[in-house]
Amino acid sequence: MSDGAARVDAVSAPGYFISFEGGDGVGKSTQARLLGQWLGELTGREVVLTREPGGTELGKELRAAVLHGQDMDPRTEALIYAADRAHHVASLVRPALERGAIVVTDRYLDSSVAYQAGGRELGADEIELISRWAVQDLMPDVTILLDLDPAAASARIRRQHDRLERAGAEFHRRTREAFLARAAADPERWVVLDATTSIDDLQAQIRVDVAARLELTPVVEEAEDTVAAEPDDGFDDTDSAIGYTPGLGLGLGPGAAGPATGSGAA
Ligand code: TYD
Repeated sequence: MSDGAARVDAVSAPGYFISFEGGDGVGKSTQARLLGQWLGELTGREVVLTREPGGTELGKELRAAVLHGQDMDPRTEALIYAADRAHHVASLVRPALERGAIVVTDRYLDSSVAYQAGGRELGADEIELISRWAVQDLMPDVTILLDLDPAAASARIRRQHDRLERAGAEFHRRTREAFLARAAADPERWVVLDATTSIDDLQAQIRVDVAARLELTPVVEEAEDTVAAEPDDGFDDTDSAIGYTPGLGLGLGPGAAGPATGSGAA
């Protein structure tokens, strides 16, 4: 079996939906981008890297309003995030999953539960309900929580703080607690990682966890074939840090053939 054949089989399977969550300044965007690049190389699939709020053209307008516009009531804020999410899922995320892509989003509905329920102290069940309604129950296959003390995270943000970032230490403490509680309640979906770790080490750990959760088992090619056909597999050095053997080729094991694509399981 060649590495190429494994990739073609994988592409006919449904997509994967991965979300990154955590407080402001924890490094989600960097980790999401690195994971997306790696998954694209590993699986041969299309990777859609996106974010909330602001993953679409309409979303950019909603993002500007909610982060940089006038002050607003918490319910208004919650509905703007839900509206951004509804449009994001309907116009970008769901179509991508349906064509077999891997969607990696920087924040999803767990941010609403953490920030608008935890932070703003609205009801968690209500916030989850409006978001679930907005996305017709589409839930990620895996959610990575990058956990960091809010004071340390805030110090990492060098640009001017936006409306949410200015919400205060107590708000951010509640938000962090809400994320951790939500993750603890659903360990099958969540992976919780310490965001004080270096970028490379954190990324290596994320790859191990995501590959395991999505059952992306590495396929070790026969050394002779691979060396002849593919002397350089194009993966960067960090692959060796996660236990894959560079130069032997990577493909997808049989377990990767058919995960749920956000089937609605919480
Ligand atoms: P983010 O894009 O992660 O911030 P930045 O790129 O500026 O670092 O998120 C924007 C802010 O919106 C962040 O403070 C978290 C907040 N937010 C909510 O309060 N509720 C939500 O549902 C989402 C998606 C984000």
